[in-house]
Amino acid sequence: MITNAYIHIPFCASKCVYCDFYVELAKYGRQAAYVEALNHEIKTRYQQNTNPLTELPPLESLYIGGGTPSLLEASVYQQVFETIEQYQPFSPDAERTLEINPNRLASTMADYRAVGFDRVSIGIQSFNPLELKKLSRQHTAEEAIVTVKQAKEAGFKNISIDLMYGIPTQTMASWEATLVQAIALPIEHISLYGLQLEAGTPLETLVHKAKAHYPLPTDEACLTMYQMAVDRLTQAGFYQYEVSNFARKGHQSQHNLAYWKSKAFWGFGAGATGFVSGIRYENSTNLDGYIANPLEMQAETVVSALEQLENAFIFGLRLTEGIDVETLKRQTSPELWEKVVSVIEKAVGKGQLHHLPSTGFLAITPEWFPKMNSVLADFVNLS
Ligand SMILES: C[S@@+](CC[C@H](N)C(=O)[O-])C[C@H]1O[C@@H](n2cnc3c(N)ncnc32)[C@H](O)[C@@H]1O
Ligand code: SF4
Repeated sequence: MITNAYIHIPFCASKCVYCDFYVELAKYGRQAAYVEALNHEIKTRYQQNTNPLTELPPLESLYIGGGTPSLLEASVYQQVFETIEQYQPFSPDAERTLEINPNRLASTMADYRAVGFDRVSIGIQSFNPLELKKLSRQHTAEEAIVTVKQAKEAGFKNISIDLMYGIPTQTMASWEATLVQAIALPIEHISLYGLQLEAGTPLETLVHKAKAHYPLPTDEACLTMYQMAVDRLTQAGFYQYEVSNFARKGHQSQHNLAYWKSKAFWGFGAGATGFVSGIRYENSTNLDGYIANPLEMQAETVVSALEQLENAFIFGLRLTEGIDVETLKRQTSPELWEKVVSVIEKAVGKGQLHHLPSTGFLAITPEWFPKMNSVLADFVNLS
């Protein structure tokens, strides 16, 4: 039952100093060849995985992420949608998200909407000019605001933005100003990211070699920034449905929910991962290799029943609604379930987990939510 799909578009106009994602510089071209390979991969995967006698259920979500997918024109995505629809229809209310960078739109918002996108996710990070500079972002705060307004004017009713805390030079006051600006925008969803200083990125070098110009907020300050965001966004009517994701009523990301609920999903495009029939696959991050043969250089791993159980907890507990443990227990063999019972009991005893009175689902207690990694660590490598 695969009802979700992710497509990776690796092209960016420039590489941000903090970014560790698989990215190719757009100036070297290859976009047309990439799109051709992508359509080929989609067809081949469907043909290999679909039993012609059984119809696939409609797709509930499609997320086009990157990279900077808005560097490609709307007509490219129209073609991709048509390729998918040859094998799997979209559900009438399917969520179709396009990731967008301010200042980097190959088509108008109206054109993206016209081909079938109903949701945009805009990478804004900060509304503070100095912080945008430290992150080497290629847009101003004003341009980010204009991009949101353009999406609204084009009729998008589901607009998400990404914001980041823990940025060099960021202060409590500048973070608060970013949150206030975000809340004033006509948006329905916010994803928060704590800056990760990834090994080997230019920012890592800058932070170590030019400390005075790249002062990082302390871990304690980052925790306070996180808590400030939770408080401010909740007061402003955004519901925290996941540790770092906030939505107005009815606007939770269906696509991300599928990940957190460990559902199967197609992954298409160079560097994309997918999870189909208990197998996790990872496509090549070599652009030429991918273009030459999109399915040749993939890595495949069979995800064992134990690992699937671990994932159900590690991802599911990120949600404020928690995990439907009774259903999960019914789907798991008694021998495997044995392995998790004592971990649950221990965490409940320590006040880290509780059963929600309304549903009986198992969830992290509010006081442990900001420190959830230490709770989740106990569900890694169950034995
Ligand atoms: C892969 S990016 C794609 C979105 C878009 N290209 C952009 O940058 O605006 C998705 C999000 O990941 C987050 N991100 C990327 N690198 C990160 C890092 N090193 N630490 C924390 N968040 C990061 C950013 O907030 C970004 O908006
Ligand atoms: S625009 Fe996004 S994906 Fe591209 S380099 Fe910057 S953070 Fe990474």
